Amino acid sequence: MRAITIEQPGGPEALQWTEVPEPSAGAGQVLIEVVAAGVNRADALQRQGHYPPPIDAPPYPGLEVSGRIKALGEGVHGWHVGQEVCALLGGGGYAELAVAPVGQLLPVPKGVDLVDAAGLPEVAATVFSNVVDLARLKPGETLLVHGGGSGIGTFAVQLGKALGATVVATARAAKRERLIELGADRVIDYASEDFSETTHADVILDIMGGSYLAQNIDALNAGGRLVVIGLQGGRRGELDMGQLLMKRALVAGTTLRARSAAEKAAIVRGVREEVWPLLEEGKVRPVTHARFSMADAAGAHRLLESNEHFGKILLTTTAG
Ligand SMILES: NC(=O)c1ccc[n+]([C@@H]2O[C@H](COP(=O)([O-])OP(=O)(O)OC[C@H]3O[C@@H](n4cnc5c(N)ncnc54)[C@H](OP(=O)(O)O)[C@@H]3O)[C@@H](O)[C@H]2O)c1
Repeated sequence: MRAITIEQPGGPEALQWTEVPEPSAGAGQVLIEVVAAGVNRADALQRQGHYPPPIDAPPYPGLEVSGRIKALGEGVHGWHVGQEVCALLGGGGYAELAVAPVGQLLPVPKGVDLVDAAGLPEVAATVFSNVVDLARLKPGETLLVHGGGSGIGTFAVQLGKALGATVVATARAAKRERLIELGADRVIDYASEDFSETTHADVILDIMGGSYLAQNIDALNAGGRLVVIGLQGGRRGELDMGQLLMKRALVAGTTLRARSAAEKAAIVRGVREEVWPLLEEGKVRPVTHARFSMADAAGAHRLLESNEHFGKILLTTTAG
């Protein structure tokens, strides 16, 4: 089969569509003929050599795929060969074949295109585990989503609305209209406005880290929850503990990729029970900005790093 390999970490040109050995499904796993893979910020970090895959994952990038089951490993029940699925992976999605633990497998939601489904597992699992499981967003509360136009952001805005929250998003001005269409109640152009001066949020989903820490704490309501999932603005910041105490606020950080298979399976179960019905009812929909062929993964990464995209970028194989 072919997969995207990275011989030398570097720019997008480091991504090479190469012949590699075929994987097989072990016990408790399924082999998927990949139709499409989602492109995530983490893939760009991996390409640059900053985010090595977990030891039990293939070396090729790719945290999520959609496709058809090609083989079932020992002990896998309830799924069948040929079934259309999507899956959360520890790596290896940029390939013609990928192996997923059965606990990280999801059916393609009814009404969702098979290719678009590739962009769902990573964002759905990340947003659900942080905004619902951890931060316990409640109807009537305000959710602030940083980077509203990102793959994560476009999903978080919709999920927040579907859960009955008021949603505020930060994004560059060019993405404002599309965020309002997705359901955001207010969009703040972070380049011209300091969100902490006008926003009071109960839950903040943050992708900036250090550079937004002080403003995020300022923006939190009493009893607020700040969840940091990205460090695009650096890993260090200054935390005013006095403010934290007075607001009885919680600050948390999480990463999905490093979690154990059991934890990922529990998250995927929650996603299937609580998020998949929203997709099937059309209350949340996949937002795909562009599709590239797998062989042009470099082009997809260039677009990702330009930040011109709105929603997800996908890579497709010829199996579609
Ligand atoms: N911890 C986890 O488990 C986990 C899982 C998945 C993703 N993540 C993180 O979540 C983030 C989004 O991931 P993704 O794959 O969806 O990325 P993505 O689509 O590439 O989006 C990155 C976004 O950052 C926005 N941005 C840049 N500077 C900003 C600023 N100062 N304020 C607000 N937004 C800003 C850009 O939007 P504009 O064009 O509007 O600037 C862009 O849309 C990444 O940091 C990623 O590492 C974490």
